[in-house]
Amino acid sequence: MIGKASVRGAALLAVAALALAGCGDSGSDNSGGGGSTALEGRGPIKFATGKDTSGNMQKLVDQWNSEHPDEKVTITELPESADDQRDAMVRNAQAKSNEFTILNLDVVWTAEFAANRWVMELPQDQFDLENFLEPAVNTAKYRDKLYAVPVYSDGGLLYYRKDLLEAAGVTSAPKTWAEMQEACAKVKANPANASLGCYAGQFEKYEGLTVNFSEAVQSAGGSILDDSGKPTVDTPEAKEGLNFLVNGVKDGMIPPAAVTYKEEEGRRAFQDGQLIFHRQWPYQYAKANATDGSSQVAGKFDIAPIPGKDGPGASTLGGHNFAISAFADNKATALDFIKFFTSEETQRSNLLATSQAGTRTKLYDDPELVKQFPYLTTLKEAIGAAVPRPQAVKYGDVTAAIQEAVYGAMNGETSTDDALKDLQSKLESLTAQ
Ligand code: GLC
Repeated sequence: MIGKASVRGAALLAVAALALAGCGDSGSDNSGGGGSTALEGRGPIKFATGKDTSGNMQKLVDQWNSEHPDEKVTITELPESADDQRDAMVRNAQAKSNEFTILNLDVVWTAEFAANRWVMELPQDQFDLENFLEPAVNTAKYRDKLYAVPVYSDGGLLYYRKDLLEAAGVTSAPKTWAEMQEACAKVKANPANASLGCYAGQFEKYEGLTVNFSEAVQSAGGSILDDSGKPTVDTPEAKEGLNFLVNGVKDGMIPPAAVTYKEEEGRRAFQDGQLIFHRQWPYQYAKANATDGSSQVAGKFDIAPIPGKDGPGASTLGGHNFAISAFADNKATALDFIKFFTSEETQRSNLLATSQAGTRTKLYDDPELVKQFPYLTTLKEAIGAAVPRPQAVKYGDVTAAIQEAVYGAMNGETSTDDALKDLQSKLESLTAQ
């Protein structure tokens, strides 16, 4: 495995080499190892994507394959953790390998992959981007050019056990952290619920922790970077945000096992009926409502905006965009496959099959879909108000610094003050021009 330092070193070298070669910002000179420099070539392609927790991706690929027998797509399934997926894609790019054609990029990787010219610039005029959620489209651009197309949009939602809250006399979802804690205490006052965990999110040391920390800070009125891009984590608001997580672990609101949860571990705990509140993405909605016996909580939960310090919190913008590797063969096929995957028809059928939220505005206003997935209205609002994570070319280092600081504080190795002070200075050097 390539270490972070060498990944960073190689990335800087690549940028430096491009600067020397005068490639600047022209965008039409995606020169690479294996692949051609234009979006041309037809034939079989490979699609590198994180573990398909929805179960529907292969079905959509099968549909494409049956309609395009000479341009078949093969899925290369990468690990479940966002950071491990990024590592695999970075390694592939640094080797200039043609092994991956399409990359399922997290919304936070566009700047890094575009600046290093690891992905192709895409023709904006071939996509009806005006019909997509604007915040999602912004994540697919770097310096105003399009390098990917938004496929899934993610906003953080509060899943809560409506049945338990109602039985405890709590009739509406909590809007603040304090209300959430009070509701928990009421539910747990019933001895039958005493062993339940109150609240979990994604607290393992990986990208999910960066998301949950950012949300906590934003939901206390703070930010990670200010509008000019300057880090702002050594502030009273950021301290309150981090303390929500740190004190949550200390006082038992967050169960001890939750510091090992990524999306899937938390989903299983919620589905097994072990959690009262769970911060999670939309995909959990269909899984937790499954009536095939895999979920203990089908029909027993509801969804609300995430709570904050003094009122509703602010979600972090998540999601995934598809890009074409600069080093791939058969890029014309890849472009068509992206068009297929981002079409209204495919997005609709995927939403119906999985509850994963698409990126086309129309899906959020369709009465039939909203009836089946009532969370769409909450999600649209969450995405509209969601705060993007830093758009940094060195994003890998930025997120690693955040994870280090937050994980240390949540696990009692560092004080909140020291963690934030140290993080502030690391972010300052990483975002310095
Ligand atoms: C989801 C989000 C992505 C985020 C990741 C964190 O996949 O779509 O943006 O980075 O979760 O685990």
